[in-house]
Amino acid sequence: MKLRKVSDADASELLQVVTESLEHLKPWMSWATNDYDAATAAGFLANSAKGWADGRLFNHAITVDGAIVGVAGADRAGDVVEIGYWLHPAHTGRGLATAAAAELVEFAFALALDGVRRVQIWHDEANIASGGVPRRLGFSEIDRRTPPREPAFGNEAGVDVVWELKR
Ligand SMILES: CC(C)(COP(=O)(O)OP(=O)(O)OC[C@H]1O[C@@H](n2cnc3c(N)ncnc32)[C@H](O)[C@@H]1OP(=O)(O)O)[C@@H](O)C(=O)NCCC(=O)NCCS
Repeated sequence: MKLRKVSDADASELLQVVTESLEHLKPWMSWATNDYDAATAAGFLANSAKGWADGRLFNHAITVDGAIVGVAGADRAGDVVEIGYWLHPAHTGRGLATAAAAELVEFAFALALDGVRRVQIWHDEANIASGGVPRRLGFSEIDRRTPPREPAFGNEAGVDVVWELKR
């Protein structure tokens, strides 16, 4: 598994991976809908380029043998970096999301000189697979929030579980 910065050149491959993953993503990712198309992928990549340029949002492609199998991002707000991730369903169960998140933890704390002190992962209470990632990486559960940050949809229970790692 390798993580790399996403780029505009990823548009068609990203569209294909998301399209193949749609039924697996729909229960948990609000952007994963039947409307997802080339313009959605291009918009995500344009927003990612802006995020990197602003030093605020760092979206990475999760790759295996050079092929995109998911995305992992680090989103900075003040002294906190929040990590998010998704995988193509053919690539779950192998520790790839955990490895990607572990790399992004180091990436986030490398911004420490810039004031980053805490890394968080948020997921819906019903999303057990997502919660496995921070658990394996030694994060502590610090909160359960109702109502959730965004309205619940899909398989969500409507309770946000918040995990945190401090250094
Ligand atoms: C969330 C998501 C990325 C988690 O995927 P995952 O495959 O469970 O996570 P990992 O890639 O870290 O793999 C962990 C699994 O691989 C196993 N594994 C195998 N080798 C491993 C290794 N070297 N290291 C860690 N885990 C390993 C683990 O035991 C675990 O399997 P288990 O849950 O059956 O115990 C995936 O379920 C997904 O894409 N969901 C839809 C999108 C989503 O919900 N994103 C998060 C929103 S908050």
